[in-house]
Amino acid sequence: MWRKVKGTLVVEAKDLKKAERGIQEAAQIIRRGGLVAFPTETVYGLGASAFSGSAVERIFRAKGRPGDNPLIVHIAEEKDLKELAAQRPPLVSLLVEKFWPGPLTLVLPRGPRVPPEVTAGLDTVAVRMPRHPVALALIRAAGLPIAAPSANRSGRPSPTTAEHVLEDLAGRIQMLLDGGPCPVGLESTVLDLTHEVPLLLRPGGVTLEQLQETLGEVHLLDPHSYKKGEAPPSPGLKYRHYAPRAPMYMVEGEPSRVVKEIKKICRENHLKGRRVGLLVTEENRSQFRADAVEVLGLRRSPEEMAARLFDSLRRLDASGVDLILAETVEETGIGLALMNRLRKAASGRTIKAR
Ligand code: TXA
Ligand code: MG
Repeated sequence: MWRKVKGTLVVEAKDLKKAERGIQEAAQIIRRGGLVAFPTETVYGLGASAFSGSAVERIFRAKGRPGDNPLIVHIAEEKDLKELAAQRPPLVSLLVEKFWPGPLTLVLPRGPRVPPEVTAGLDTVAVRMPRHPVALALIRAAGLPIAAPSANRSGRPSPTTAEHVLEDLAGRIQMLLDGGPCPVGLESTVLDLTHEVPLLLRPGGVTLEQLQETLGEVHLLDPHSYKKGEAPPSPGLKYRHYAPRAPMYMVEGEPSRVVKEIKKICRENHLKGRRVGLLVTEENRSQFRADAVEVLGLRRSPEEMAARLFDSLRRLDASGVDLILAETVEETGIGLALMNRLRKAASGRTIKAR
C-alpha cells in the first residue's frame, strides 16, 4: 500500500516480496540525490547516497543536525568496505565475521571516495552493515553505500516506528519505507578501531561483553575525560542529546526502596497539583498510580525494555507531565546501552532511594 503524508510517500514494507516495487522506487530516489527513511534492526535511518556531498547536506537540513556531527555509512556486502576505508585494521575481519550484518558500527580511516560532508571533515569514517532485510535490499538496489543518521529531528528520540519518523519528518523527505517496529530499538554500538586498543564510543545492540569476548581488551570512553575546548573523541558527544520537556530523574537503590521512593515522590507532587510520568518495569507497574505510566517490560528481559524505550519517551513527552521518574536496570548486556540512553534523557539526574 502506498500513501502520501504531507508530500512524503509512505510505502508498506513489512513483507519484502510485496515491497519490491517500493524498494526499487526508493533506490531510484537515493541514486538521484534524494532522501529516504528506512527501517534497520536498531532504529529508522534517514538515507542518502554516501558518495554525494550535496545529497548528504540535505540530510543535515531535513534533521536540523549540526554540520559537524558525522554520519554512519551503511553497506550490504563486506567488499564495499574497500571503497570506504583507507585501511583495514587486523581486528576488522574478526568483528565482521561475528557481528555483521548487525548493530555494530566500526570507525576506520576514511577512504578518498567518501565526501567530507559524510564525516564532517574527519579523517575517519563510521561504517556498518545492518541486519534488516529492507535496509539490505535498499542498499543493494541503490548500488551505493547509504549514509544515514537516525531519522528523527535533531533533539528528538531516535525513531523506532514509521509513525515516529512521520511525526518528525513528514513533508521534509521524499519517501519512507514502513517496515514496522525496529526489533533492537536502540542505536548501534560504535567502536573506534583507529587506536591501539579498540575504543567503545557508544554502547548499543552488540554488547561490551560480546566485544570483550571477541577482542580481549576494549577501552571504554569516559564522556567527561576530554577537556573543555578540546575535540571530543566522537563528535556526537558534544551535543545535548535527547531530553524530554519535563525534568527526568532516575531512581536508584534496592528494589523495594525504589518502589517506596517513587510512590512518595508521586504523592508529594500530586498534593502540589503536579502531574507525574513514570518509566517502570512490568514487575512493579501495579504498585504505582501516576498521570502517565509507561511500562518498559520485564526486568528479566532487558532486550524488551530496550526496544520500548524510545516509544515510551515520546509518549511521556506527548502526555505533558511536569516530572518524569524512571527505574534503573543493571548495566550488563544491553542494560549498559539502555542505562546510557536513560542517563542522557535524565541529563544524569539521580535520586538515591533510602
Ligand atoms: O543504529 C544506528 O547506528 C542508526 C541506524 C540508522 O544505523 N544510526 C544512528 O546514527 O544512530 P546517528 O547519526 O544518530 O549516530 C551516529 C553516531 C554519532 O554519535 C556520531 O557522532 C558517531 O556515530 N560517528 C559517526 N561517524 C563518526 C566518526 N568518524 N568518528 C567518531 N564518531 C562517529
Ligand atoms: Mg541520532
